[in-house]
Formats: sequence, structure tokens, C-alpha cells
Amino acid sequence: MSIQVNTQGTASPIAPVDLAAERAELGPALEEALVRTLRSGQYVLGPEVEALERDFANLHGARHGVGVGSGTDALIVGLKALGVQPGDGVVTSPFTFFASAGAIAWIGARPVLADVEAETALLDPARAAEAIDESTRCILPVHLYGQLADMRALRALADESDLTLLEDAAQAHGARRDGIAPAQLGDAAAFSFYPTKNLGAAGEGGMVLTNSEETDCRLRRLRDHGSGAKYVHEGIGTNTRLQAMQAAALNVKLPHLGAWNDRRRAVAARYDAGFEGSAAVRPLARACEQGHVFHQYTVRVDERDRAVESLRAAGIFSGVHYPLPVHLQEAARTWGYGPGDFPVAEALAREVLCLPIHPFLHPDQVERVIETLLGILEG
Ligand SMILES: Cc1ncc(COP(=O)(O)O)c(C=O)c1O
Repeated sequence: MSIQVNTQGTASPIAPVDLAAERAELGPALEEALVRTLRSGQYVLGPEVEALERDFANLHGARHGVGVGSGTDALIVGLKALGVQPGDGVVTSPFTFFASAGAIAWIGARPVLADVEAETALLDPARAAEAIDESTRCILPVHLYGQLADMRALRALADESDLTLLEDAAQAHGARRDGIAPAQLGDAAAFSFYPTKNLGAAGEGGMVLTNSEETDCRLRRLRDHGSGAKYVHEGIGTNTRLQAMQAAALNVKLPHLGAWNDRRRAVAARYDAGFEGSAAVRPLARACEQGHVFHQYTVRVDERDRAVESLRAAGIFSGVHYPLPVHLQEAARTWGYGPGDFPVAEALAREVLCLPIHPFLHPDQVERVIETLLGILEG
């Protein structure tokens, strides 16, 4: 194995993401698009946003895309567009970025948590079924780390109980499960374009995809003060219109998403091979053979905090997504949950370790991560 060595003779650091390499690969196109948009004078919505809405929806086989200000806003307007009202229960995962549950609480609805599957860290449809009661209005699965939750089972569950289904696809741009993309079985899917996502803006951004014309109309009104036509307000909304500069950046990157996701899969395959048979480093399972887009490559380890520190000392920067489950956050103290309520989420929060993964990671760097981590935990 050859390790990249810098001029000081030490191995160069390995970061979780490399936005500079992304910019370098795009060449001048990104800056040209931003300057063109700046000169156009059209800064909010407009042709760049419309092009992105069309192309991003097409990529997922969805009929409509509605660009908004962030992934969090995509969840908020998504919930509202699907008719979730204050006091309604929305079933979601306790093991996710807080925004999934926070968006529910933000609109005055009630986050109802259901534990995840130990193998995949995705919402467990059996646990979700147990969490449903007469106040439940919606199920909000999270496609964590880039792989889709069991949408067939969740669609069936939603239909049985007459619920809507909003997918948190913030980490799942271009993902598939058994050939099915976000928004194909859900009533809508919410995406984030936060800069470190598989498809990231040059700032904040988000989008909701849906196949329903009615939901599309509601989303467009909700993102723009309840307005369908200028100064005509049919309902109460907010201002969360996607900015043209962000859409312009995303339009430059979108054609690369497929290749970048393939490169993430190649990195994941190397990690898989490197950790095969290890009792100390246990990669999460794949829900299906293809279609995982590896926003994160996540393993379970017993001495997680020691592993993070020792990797850092070796110049390897890992992540812990997420160290504290939703129900144990201070912000959730009034939701009626406590320690021990979601044992799978709690165990994952203790054990998960996300290793560097991005399209620009060199095979030698992947080998270095594998060797170093196995050395720390098995050595
Ligand atoms: C699972 C999940 N949901 C929601 C969000 C919120 O997206 P944003 O940061 O764009 O508001 C994120 C991203 O950070 C996320 O990872």
C-alpha cells in the first residue's frame, strides 16, 4: 500500500468530505454559472430553479419538484402539504438527524417515535405499526446514510390506516431500493442540498418531490406565503423559495451525481472487502444489492470513542452520526420518552462510526483507513 505523504513526511489527513476536489472536477463551470446568475438579476426562483425542479424530479421518476430553502423546510412544507395539523401524530425514527423529528414538532404536530432495525438503522415497519393510534396522520421514514427504508411495507401500513407518507430523503439523492426511488411510493419526498450532501448547493437548499398535482400546488403556495398568483393569498404559507444561485450551482453538479454515487459505491465495496470477517468492525447491512448511495459508510464498533480518537491521531477524520438519539435530546424532553425506550437506536448511537467516504477518495486512502481501524480495534 502506498500512503500519500506530504512535504513534512507525515501521511496527509483524510477528511470525511472534499469539497475542494469537487470544485476542481467541475472546472470553471460552477463559477461561470454563479456569475451568469448574478448578472441575470433573477435571484429567487426563475429559470435555474425551474430547470433543477424538472431535472431532479426526472432523475427520480417523479412528476413534480418544488425547490425550497433547506431540507428542514422541505420537511415542514411537505408535512403541511400532506395535511398534517397541530396535534396530529407523525411516526418517525429516533435515530436520525434531529430535523426529521424537529420539523414535526415545529408545525405543532406530535413526533411519535418507533425503533429502527438493528441491521440497517432504518425505521422498522413492525415497530412503526405498533406506534400508530387514532391520532396518527402520517409516517415519516428516514432514508438514513443513503439507503431507502422499506417503502413497500410502509406504504402498505400507511394505506391500511389511511395515513400519508412523507420520506426524509435528505441523505438519499438518486437512491433506489429494489428499483424504487424516493417519492415513488411515498406521497412526497423531502431532500436537502446542504453542501456536504451527495448533491450539495453552495449554501442552503432543499426540494420536495411528489407525483401528485394537488400536493405540488400546495407546496408551491406554502413556500410563497400561500400565494398562487402575485398578491393573491389563498392560505397561510412562509417564505422558503429556493434561490437561483443555489439552483445554478446544483444544475452544474446534477449531471455528475450518478457518477459520484458510483464512486461512493466503489469506495464502499473496498471498505466491505477490507472489513470482511472482522468481528471488531461490523458494517451496517444493505437492504438490497443496488441503489445505496452511501451518503455515509457506517460500521458498528464496540470501543467507538477510542476508535474516533485513535483515527484522528492518525490523521483520519471519522464522524458519529448520531451520538444521541432523538428521544434523549433535551429538546424532546416533553415528548414522553426516556432512556431504554428505543434500545436499538440507543445501541446504534453508542456504536456507529462513519468512515470517510466521498467520490474523490483515493483507493490508497481507503486502504489506509481500513488498516488503521483494524489496527486500532484488532491490533
Ligand atoms: C436526515 C436529515 N433530515 C433532514 C435534514 C435537514 O436538512 P437541512 O440541513 O438542509 O435543513 C438533514 C440534513 O442535514 C438530514 O440529514
